[in-house]
Amino acid sequence: RKSPLPNPRNVQGDVYLTFSKDFENFLFFRFTNPTQFVQDLAHYKPTTSYDVMHDVMRKIAEAKAAGKRAKHWQSQVAFTREGLNILGHNEQIQDVDFDKVSTPSATSDEPFRTQIMHGVFIVAASDQEYLTNGVDEIMKIFGGSIVVSILEGHSRPKQERGHEHFGFMDGISQPALRGLVKPKKGQNQCDAGVIVMGYPGDPLYQDKHTPRPDWTRDGSIMVFRKLKQLVPEFRKYVADAGPKWREWMPAEDVPKIQPPLSDAEGAALFGARLFGRWKSGAPIARAPFRDDPSQTAEDKANDFDYTVPGVFGPTQKLCPFTAHVRRTAPRNLDPFAAKSLLESALIVRGGIPYGDEVQPDEQETTKLDRGLLFVCYQSRIARGFLTQISWAFNDYFPVINFTPTKWGQDSIIGAAEPPPTLVQVRAVGGKIPDGDITLEVENNPPDANVVTVDGFAKPRLQPVVQPQFFVQVRGGDFFFVPSVSTLRLWSRG
Ligand code: HEM
Repeated sequence: RKSPLPNPRNVQGDVYLTFSKDFENFLFFRFTNPTQFVQDLAHYKPTTSYDVMHDVMRKIAEAKAAGKRAKHWQSQVAFTREGLNILGHNEQIQDVDFDKVSTPSATSDEPFRTQIMHGVFIVAASDQEYLTNGVDEIMKIFGGSIVVSILEGHSRPKQERGHEHFGFMDGISQPALRGLVKPKKGQNQCDAGVIVMGYPGDPLYQDKHTPRPDWTRDGSIMVFRKLKQLVPEFRKYVADAGPKWREWMPAEDVPKIQPPLSDAEGAALFGARLFGRWKSGAPIARAPFRDDPSQTAEDKANDFDYTVPGVFGPTQKLCPFTAHVRRTAPRNLDPFAAKSLLESALIVRGGIPYGDEVQPDEQETTKLDRGLLFVCYQSRIARGFLTQISWAFNDYFPVINFTPTKWGQDSIIGAAEPPPTLVQVRAVGGKIPDGDITLEVENNPPDANVVTVDGFAKPRLQPVVQPQFFVQVRGGDFFFVPSVSTLRLWSRG
């Protein structure tokens, strides 16, 4: 018997197909009048997955055939735990991360710094005019029941369109939901329930002990993160590494790179090895030394893994273990185990860049706020987003032959952690007042920040050059994205 599948007319449009967009506003809101909101909801029609697949895609194809750009806008709504509680939908959706009400965070930017949001409308559009139309329409309906705080995203200009702020093409790898989305060659596939609640693949599908409320079916959980990117700093770090390519490339590969790389080519390769893809989007597993845009073709861009013929088990031969795409989706990392684990942990990503291009006075240091409004969907946060984060932040992943080796964290989103190395030192001179001591350091790795003095661990007194990290989390929350029929049910109060 065929597995049951979500109804595309009932799933909101950004969840598994993602909105087509160059402009996007996140209207984070708090209720001012929840009773009114429920009445307003009766007048609201979100864009469904069916609409995205048929209307929007058709418009885009027709406009393209006529040599034009299609004009459209799409929207959907989602709620935080606090928002659902206020509306009276207090039942747990049985996701431990979602079901605990979040708290504001002093390290976040607004609107997450001082208050908890109740929900978000996402409006995605082809251009600024249609975006404004969409936002106006939503405010016309809900202006009397919510106050909003808007985060604005938009594609980068001209040839950077589709690329995130570090310059790399984004939105290439996306899971195809079996039975709903025709996979491209090599594309990762998962059962629909990994993303949409209430179907095989959802860890709680038909679970009698922890039943989810009926209103969760055809819903999903959206993780939102505002991720600030330090672009000038990243560019400098990559450019500085360029001329040293013979030092950081595996020794056996250096003679294979013919003709030898220029400094700029070295920098491009270094950046590509941080991501696992070139700026063009070509996977380095298919183009290990020089960018090859022909590898971005639809039947090639996702048709790769990290195995190498003749090499048993995980290897860094074609792509470092720490590369961002390898850490967040370790395709065939362990050919014996990871495939099913990876499949159950897949997420659909739907983010967009925010902020302006780097300005002339920002050559060395970031002055303006820019980065990625990161969005992903899954039926359980701990299976999707948090699993990927745990791979990304795990210094020792993958463990090979039961022997943990410290490879380091995801090069792009890995956390800044002081290196814990201990080194032997010998004190010179009798007194050891902190901050005023001369130490002669033996066997001194450059990243050590803890030293031993007469057998005791001491913080290193010289400032240590920390590894650089270029992405900062500036806030976010978890949102439940109800189905269209649930919204209709709720709008009846
Ligand atoms: C892939 C950039 C944050 C998960 C990618 C790609 C780029 C990129 C350029 C390659 C394009 C593609 O395969 O679609 C960034 C930047 C980030 C960021 C600049 C931060 C500012 C995150 C976070 C996650 C994540 C927080 C959380 C889990 C993924 C996944 C893939 C991916 C799952 C696809 C991997 C694959 O299937 O091969 N990202 N990303 N990214 N990223 Fe990120």
